[in-house]
Amino acid sequence: MPVAQRIEELRNELTELAQVVPNAQELMQAMVKLLHDRMLKYNWVGFYLLELGAQPPMLVLGAFEGAMTPHTRIPLNQGICGAAASSGQTVVVDDVSKDPRYLACSLETKSEIVVPVFAHGKVMGELDIDSHFPAAFTSEHQDLVQHCAMLVGKKLEASGQ
Ligand code: SME
Repeated sequence: MPVAQRIEELRNELTELAQVVPNAQELMQAMVKLLHDRMLKYNWVGFYLLELGAQPPMLVLGAFEGAMTPHTRIPLNQGICGAAASSGQTVVVDDVSKDPRYLACSLETKSEIVVPVFAHGKVMGELDIDSHFPAAFTSEHQDLVQHCAMLVGKKLEASGQ
């Protein structure tokens, strides 16, 4: 199946899933599994959530699929994860070996995307995906991952968070 079609189908499936799951936590759990299972180049998929009230602010590992990472807590001034959460912008890195911000999770990782999750205009966390393939996150993949982050943000808003 061509990748554009695979992305379109998954996008629709995730949109429907967001309507039937009871809360954001279950959505994130099901989402990381679906993304990891269906997208062959998404080798690690996980959410980091901003710890509310923590000083200094901290990203804490939530639902994930793939090998356990040493980075379970990431300060906002560290890593590609910290850069995405503190700027509120999607960060795509085509070659992690050339990015001094990169915190290594697996020696096999070649490229990474991190998309912030917003609720009520504030960053609540982020969706992080690593690939064993260089430059895996082309614009069609960015659209899919941003759609996923948006679905989680809306679910957080709907549950009053
Ligand atoms: N590579 C991330 C750290 C998280 S692991 O990839 C799961 C970073 O540079 O922030």
